[in-house]
Amino acid sequence: MSLEQILAWIPPGSPDEALAQQVNFEQLPSHVAIIMDGNGRWAAQRQLPRVKGHRAGIDSVRDVLETSARLGIEVLTLYAFSVENWKRPRAEVDMLMMLLKRYIRLEIGFINKHNIRFRAIGRLDELAPDVQAALDLGVRKTEQNTGMQFNIALNYGGRAEIVDAARRAIEAGLAPEALDEQRFGDLLYTGGQPDPDLLIRTSGEMRVSNFLLWQIAYSEIWVTETLWPDFRRRDLLHAVLDYQKRDRRYGGIKSTSLALGVK
Ligand code: FPP
Repeated sequence: MSLEQILAWIPPGSPDEALAQQVNFEQLPSHVAIIMDGNGRWAAQRQLPRVKGHRAGIDSVRDVLETSARLGIEVLTLYAFSVENWKRPRAEVDMLMMLLKRYIRLEIGFINKHNIRFRAIGRLDELAPDVQAALDLGVRKTEQNTGMQFNIALNYGGRAEIVDAARRAIEAGLAPEALDEQRFGDLLYTGGQPDPDLLIRTSGEMRVSNFLLWQIAYSEIWVTETLWPDFRRRDLLHAVLDYQKRDRRYGGIKSTSLALGVK
């Protein structure tokens, strides 16, 4: 929303205040996507079971949601469970699904307070009926909100999403010549939303892990060693500030070269 919105929530004189003051609100990323990684390592460092890392990760989700909404980011997408994550031990998968249901039940008030619209993206019909019901409830209870769009990627795979979009095109009887990049993008789960300008990955891994493969074609990538349960407002502000220093060329030439008439 604005500098005032974010400063109202930051202790005066704190390092976060200095970071927030450097943000250029004319040049915010419209869509921030985050690969939340490192929950297991965070727990292992503390000799705790992995699930404690996932639980702690929820505090980071809350902090990042509020920071993004107050900054005025249009869309935030968090990668919570991939199509590959079913390979994890059954107990961990069950616990993640339980945490998700509890998250929606407990945090819906917070999401509404910040005027955020919730939705889930992925092969949702393959999730258990109780998880689908919780997601539907989250969507229904926030659909009137007019602020930030919050996508949670669940049973999500970038390749699966592209296959699903192709299936939709075929089902809709689209003629091959009617299909172009714009039309195809509209058939993705994120149809109608801007592509991510900024892709963040925590815990230092340099991979995109099948996340938003089509949509990240021109995203700026920012990787931090910070493990997801330690990720907070200051980290997101650092990411946004670094993003604002990047020269985005989309395959063209440097914008400064353009201004100078340099070829
Ligand atoms: C990756 O860490 C994290 C996940 C697979 C799950 C992310 C889930 C949460 C943050 C909590 C639930 C979120 C919501 C919104 C309810 P990892 O387990 O792969 O960590 P590791 O690489 O250190 O093992």
